[in-house]
Amino acid sequence: MKLVFATNNQHKLQEIKQLLDDSIGLLDLNDINCTDDIPEKQETLEGNASEKSFYIFNKYGMNCFADDTGLEIEALNGEPGVYSARYAGEERSAENNMNLVLEKLYKIKNRKARFRTVISLVIDGHETQFEGVVEGNILEEKRGKTGFGYDPIFQPNESVSSFAEMSAGEKNKISHRGRAVQKLVVYLTQFKTQ
Ligand code: IMP
Repeated sequence: MKLVFATNNQHKLQEIKQLLDDSIGLLDLNDINCTDDIPEKQETLEGNASEKSFYIFNKYGMNCFADDTGLEIEALNGEPGVYSARYAGEERSAENNMNLVLEKLYKIKNRKARFRTVISLVIDGHETQFEGVVEGNILEEKRGKTGFGYDPIFQPNESVSSFAEMSAGEKNKISHRGRAVQKLVVYLTQFKTQ
């Protein structure tokens, strides 16, 4: 089966390729010559993931999946959530986004937060969604150099390290995206054998 992953992020693509066996031919947007700015204008992670996967299915007629992730901070009523990439502005700076979170949580005791990923899979026009969550806390200051986005200020409950102090392998085992992808892989493995 050929399946498009609606991403240009090679890091995400490789991560998923490692988990899927060779019977699923995984393609990215580059492989299908898609250079469109795929719309993600919804107000939920579910809505955005769905919008992206149906965009590809409807335009190219190919089975497809897309993901959307947000950091949800309890004391900020779930912010930045669906706005995680551009929380501090359209320039999408990870440093500015983290600084804004640290500013908003200054002197706030409740540091509880979670990362949540939603994957929307569309096969023959039928959608299935998968969710992955990792619970943790926002640190008082940035720690570590690996990863991306909010990794230096997020410490998962399972670890004494921030995400940015972990290797990619360690992070993938417990991360929101890793967990959502594992569910997708189980589903696809069963789907193939039907
Ligand atoms: P996306 O939906 O995967 O593009 O994620 C949206 C935004 O959430 C990213 O631009 C990052 O700011 C943040 N984000 C997503 N995944 C992670 C992660 O694993 N660590 C840190 N930040 C992340």
